[in-house]
Amino acid sequence: MLWNFPSNPLGATPEAGAADQLASLLRAEAPLTVVSDEVYEDFVFDGTHLSPAAALPADLASRVWSVFSFSKSYGVAGIRVGYVHAPAGHAANVARLSWATTMSTGSLSQAAALGLLRAGPGDAVAFRDQVRAARDLADGRLREAGLPVTAPRAGLFCWVDVSATGLDGEDLADRASRECGVLFLPGTEFSPRAPAMVRLSFGGEPAALREALDRLVPWLASLVADTRSGPAPERAVAGAPAATVR
Ligand SMILES: Cc1ncc(COP(=O)(O)O)c(C=O)c1O
Repeated sequence: MLWNFPSNPLGATPEAGAADQLASLLRAEAPLTVVSDEVYEDFVFDGTHLSPAAALPADLASRVWSVFSFSKSYGVAGIRVGYVHAPAGHAANVARLSWATTMSTGSLSQAAALGLLRAGPGDAVAFRDQVRAARDLADGRLREAGLPVTAPRAGLFCWVDVSATGLDGEDLADRASRECGVLFLPGTEFSPRAPAMVRLSFGGEPAALREALDRLVPWLASLVADTRSGPAPERAVAGAPAATVR
């Protein structure tokens, strides 16, 4: 079973009682093993992170494989370093699998990861505070455009319903890249059931985020206003044949 909290793209965190529910499920389904993807563990804005391996009783925790990454916590996706907290006795199997697929992690990346670990959690904490402020900014500004935003309780993304713009997520993302120079992902990258959604990241540089929102929000608001006012009535333009003016 794949467990992904904080989730991408929803920014969701487990509801109260989730650890007990997971425990009941694991007791009922004896062979079930959990892969817990916790790469957004450091970006929980409301409450604290729930790590199943730490929350479950020891006999069940031994069926959880927890996956973490430097990519998010330290903002260094380019170094491609993550790690697995495996049940006792299985770490060597993970290392063997890793060896069989990538041979080794680049030595420069390893040195970078080691440097980050030696520097301690200070950078990660400062980064989380920066990201929390970015979440508040992005969430507030996107609402200004008149779009319903799923308030992210964690993670690095706003998940936004763009139906009010009159465009689906794919067309909107395409036009935003060309007309605003701002990139984001359509919801269909995550689910075929999310054609009306887009996912915007607020995890980048604060100045770039402010600039992107300054370009995007008025543009989105004008699309929403155009859609609300409906198609413009036909009117006659002096000296010319009747034309539809938008
Ligand atoms: C939920 C989730 N798990 C794992 C990853 C992969 O992270 P990495 O950069 O370590 O490959 C991502 C990356 O976006 C993610 O969103």
